[in-house]
Amino acid sequence: MYYPEELIEEVRQKNDIVDVISGYVGLQKKGSNYMCCCPFHGEKTPSFSVNRARQIYKCFGCGEGGNVLTFVMKYENCTFPEAMKILADKAGVELPQAEYSEEAKRRESRRQKLLEINKAAATFYFYQLRTERGAKAREYLDKRKLSEETRKNFGLGFAPTRGEELLAYLHQKGFTDELIRDAGLAKMDEKRGTTTQFWNRVMFPIQDINHRVIGFGGRIMGDNDSGPKYLNSPETEIFDKSRNLYGMNYARTARTGNIILCEGYMDVISMHQAGFTQAVASLGTAFTLGQAGLIKKYTKDVLLAYDSDGAGVKAALRAIRILRDAGMSGKIINMSPYKDPDEFIKNLGQAAFQERIDHAENSFMFEIRMLERDYDMNDPEEKTNFHNQIARKLCDFSEDVERENYIEAVAEKYHIGFENLRKLVVNMAAKTGGYAVTVTQQPKSGIQSRNKNTPEEKVKNAQRLLLTWLTDYPQLYFKIKNYISPEDFTVELYQKVAKRMFEDIEQNRLNPAGIINMFEDEKDQSEAASLFTTKLPELETDQEKEKAFHDILVSVKKNSYEYYSAKSGVDISALSKVIEGRKALEELNKTHISLN
Ligand code: GTP
Ligand code: MN
Repeated sequence: MYYPEELIEEVRQKNDIVDVISGYVGLQKKGSNYMCCCPFHGEKTPSFSVNRARQIYKCFGCGEGGNVLTFVMKYENCTFPEAMKILADKAGVELPQAEYSEEAKRRESRRQKLLEINKAAATFYFYQLRTERGAKAREYLDKRKLSEETRKNFGLGFAPTRGEELLAYLHQKGFTDELIRDAGLAKMDEKRGTTTQFWNRVMFPIQDINHRVIGFGGRIMGDNDSGPKYLNSPETEIFDKSRNLYGMNYARTARTGNIILCEGYMDVISMHQAGFTQAVASLGTAFTLGQAGLIKKYTKDVLLAYDSDGAGVKAALRAIRILRDAGMSGKIINMSPYKDPDEFIKNLGQAAFQERIDHAENSFMFEIRMLERDYDMNDPEEKTNFHNQIARKLCDFSEDVERENYIEAVAEKYHIGFENLRKLVVNMAAKTGGYAVTVTQQPKSGIQSRNKNTPEEKVKNAQRLLLTWLTDYPQLYFKIKNYISPEDFTVELYQKVAKRMFEDIEQNRLNPAGIINMFEDEKDQSEAASLFTTKLPELETDQEKEKAFHDILVSVKKNSYEYYSAKSGVDISALSKVIEGRKALEELNKTHISLN
């Protein structure tokens, strides 16, 4: 459903953000903001802040932020149109009835056709498994100890050696060669004509969360069979490997309060058969942020059941970071002495696996334990380096209590004195600008106040700070507009916001919550919200403030100058930005900008 911007604005403006959020969580007034513990991540001290004047919210703990529509989308776990409906109903605004455009209708009918043909192919494979020809595949599934119920549940099938039969079946159902190709079921080339993607394989239909078949995985049965062990459908208009998970259609209703993420289709099936219906797997590709987002709609607790070999550990470490980026917590299930959950359950059974789930290792402790393997603890220098690495990682915890708890746990496990480790962490934070550093040690400009202290993050932070300054003091814009332009914001999303914000200030109608509406994606909305709410340094005198503002301005300009300089070798238009930038920097150095 497409809504015009004026309508979105009307709905937003008729729903005061403080009133709406108060309906969900208890807010307390603190200064000009309303605070509470963040409903989107676990915390004990409130860092979730709602600002009535700007009509936006922001969590300083997890970074979540946006306007009233973003909040409802996040909290109710719903789409933008659904959030519009909820808020429009609240405020008595009438929304136009859904009317699909020709384009949308065409896309929808095309998706339906692709879903239909996948369903037909799945039916064909399912039936083939039960014919005489499917004997070999049945034997294979017997060997892997999959019950008839499990086979039905997952719609397992068999692709016969001669592909013509699938083609004939689909043709007879009225599907065209083009559609067969577009669904990834066959390839066409001039020499060989149409050849099917899968032959002589056990077939695993891949379903979306609504149980609709969107693709297939196929496994060879014998060690001597040719081709890769698993072959998957290519990505198609309905098969996005980075946004679906195998088994999610069942796992979403498992109600176990957690999800078990594993590597293979067989692992998922085996676990479901043993009663662990919360198991899912990625689709033959690495775990993605999109998949984390899919899981997050149901739970934030993810247990990793990856292979215990080197590749599995590497993949697990990667997945942990992705989960963390998505604001979720991961734990690691110890599979040893077996390679994967399938083998574990076959050998030790359901109860033993449940025990492993109950004793899953905290992901941070797992990371440290894996890190330890790179160092020789008998060598004093290596041991010191290991401790420094630990300290560096501990700096990333933004909440004091959490960080202290981890320092304690690590100190105990690795026999490091608690106070020593704590000192190491504080020193490391002072050096790298991590969270553990106390406020007074931070540079007055406020740069470096975020967790990641990479040069890139510093640049972004400076750009965010500048936009927040302008939100607080819009009149400053007129004093700096000769020095700064939207292109100086080298992050794409920031540039869009800056452009709109400058236009709005020019026309005296600055409206941060409205700017957030420019973005459809929740992540983008959060990011946009952060531009108006970055924590400015708490400075007393105007003089201090002016100095801090000047520093930020120069920092943004300097980065832009360097950014375009680097590009000017390849991009001629960048050169003029460079010349302009150098002039502006020189002038800025001589110019005093007062806040009033
Ligand atoms: P089994 O050997 O049947 O027990 O499978 P597994 O699940 O233990 O397989 P493995 O750990 O080797 O691989 C995990 C997942 O990676 C599989 O489920 C596939 O999605 C994918 N995969 C494995 N081998 C291949 C391959 O040769 N090609 C592709 N594209 N994907 C593969
Ligand atoms: Mn396996």
